Amino acid sequence: MDDNSDLRDMIRTIPDHPKPGILFRDISTLMLDGGAFSATIDRLADALEGDPPDLIAGIEARGFVFASALAYRLGCGVLMLRKRGKLPGSTISIEYALEYGTDMLEMHDDACGPGANLVLVDDLIATGGTALAAVELLRQRGARVNQALFVIDLPDLGGAERLREKDVAPHALIA
Ligand code: PRP
Ligand code: ADE
Repeated sequence: MDDNSDLRDMIRTIPDHPKPGILFRDISTLMLDGGAFSATIDRLADALEGDPPDLIAGIEARGFVFASALAYRLGCGVLMLRKRGKLPGSTISIEYALEYGTDMLEMHDDACGPGANLVLVDDLIATGGTALAAVELLRQRGARVNQALFVIDLPDLGGAERLREKDVAPHALIA
């Protein structure tokens, strides 16, 4: 199915989580279905333009699920962008705002060399606060990040447009 409505039907919306007024898109139901999960990874791989990257950069926590499966499918490594205080080595970090709060992302400062070609992967983009922080962190290390893959885009929150303004092409299966 071209429009990914089969995958959209696997995602439920839970109101008022984690805060009143937020319509939470719960992707755990899609992940529980082996056929839907593997179709999601295949379609993310198909959305990628150009050669496979050197690394897939995945964002903790839900992003790791999709990033690691996609990296396996493409035969490339995974760079973990983790939340505050989780990485054991020397790190660089960035604070950011997202739809329902603030947080911090960190990466090991030796995780990728200058000029490495990376693709960012997360389950969902809303305001883009998380994805933009990830791009900024990776670019601080000299990485080239020109594409970002998401299962879900919430276009009314403007995140994909903000990525485009930073010369990152967003691809989402469901908008
Ligand atoms: C969710 C989602 C994205 C981010 C998107 O992560 O997985 O990373 O929010 O929101 P934004 O575009 O407004 O920044 P969350 O921080 O809830 O963490 P989790 O994956 O650990 O649940
Ligand atoms: N991350 C940011 N906004 C979200 C939403 N509405 N549902 C699920 N994850 C999110």
